[in-house]
Amino acid sequence: MAVETPCIDFLKKEIIDLKEKRGAAIMAHYYQIPEIQDIADYIGDSLALARIAATLPNEVIVMCGVHFMGETAKILCPEKIVLEPDSEAGCSLADSCPADEFKKFVDSHPDYTVISYVNTSAGVKALTDIVVTSGNALAIVETFEKDAKIIFGPDRNLGNYINSLTGRNMILWDGACHVHEKFSVDKILDLKKRYPKAEILVHPECTAPVRLLADKTGSTAVLLDYARKSDSKEFIVATESGILHQMCKECPDKTFIPAPPSDSVCSCNECAYMKLNTLEKLRDCLKNMAPSIEIEKAIAERARRPIERMLELSSK
Ligand code: 13P
Ligand code: SF4
Repeated sequence: MAVETPCIDFLKKEIIDLKEKRGAAIMAHYYQIPEIQDIADYIGDSLALARIAATLPNEVIVMCGVHFMGETAKILCPEKIVLEPDSEAGCSLADSCPADEFKKFVDSHPDYTVISYVNTSAGVKALTDIVVTSGNALAIVETFEKDAKIIFGPDRNLGNYINSLTGRNMILWDGACHVHEKFSVDKILDLKKRYPKAEILVHPECTAPVRLLADKTGSTAVLLDYARKSDSKEFIVATESGILHQMCKECPDKTFIPAPPSDSVCSCNECAYMKLNTLEKLRDCLKNMAPSIEIEKAIAERARRPIERMLELSSK
């Protein structure tokens, strides 16, 4: 375990003092660096972060994640100040679906219901009928008739996964996450040879051949919960390696092995956007009350309904 320097202790104290002064809540996604996960008031997957943000009493929310997570919180709580430690923390999947191009796609299928993954810009959500996350996509798609005409965007892998589980034929936007598409069957099978008893945990943003190896496929929260409850002692984890921090913390008697990306000798797969956030930037955004998330009012209002529909459907 790393020995913490007095400097880090001081930085943490500054963050806690500033948080209290601002009346802020710090939220963090499971892919954040361990120090941010540990100082956060709330930690979760995209669904939990949206749910919690919608009900928080605090006037200031600091979203330690990527930009679409902060945007979702701002859309749900327009009267609050939503800060993000680094405004450059984007998402390759959200970037794979520019709103103007998605609009042309939607307009060319006028009688289709539009279902969008939460990893999208506010502009794409404003074109959407209902938002989903990896934690509720299957259940929400299943609320529609089997032959319903549906556009699903932007993740072709999650869309494929839902089509294969439900026998549906949703039309898919051709987007993907650069982190999850990098996992390779060969490297996971090599690990499985070394850890034959390990269960394989896979995020649905991975490609179909990788998903076929999975003992469990699900959102970060679903994979964490599965690891907690499983009798297995070893797990190969095919999602961004930040999740291993909570897995190791909550299951100290179990071993978690990060699946490496196909193109590197590095033993884990990191989202460079998620890793832009640091304790220093968290301190600075509370100190400066910036960068804060601002969304054009008309877009935010149109984007709100499909997110609220998701929250209504996934609370049942
Ligand atoms: P979760 O909703 O599973 O936390 O996933 C978010 C994400 O960005 C996955 O890459
Ligand atoms: Fe986006 Fe992929 Fe990073 Fe998740 S891991 S935030 S989908 S780039």
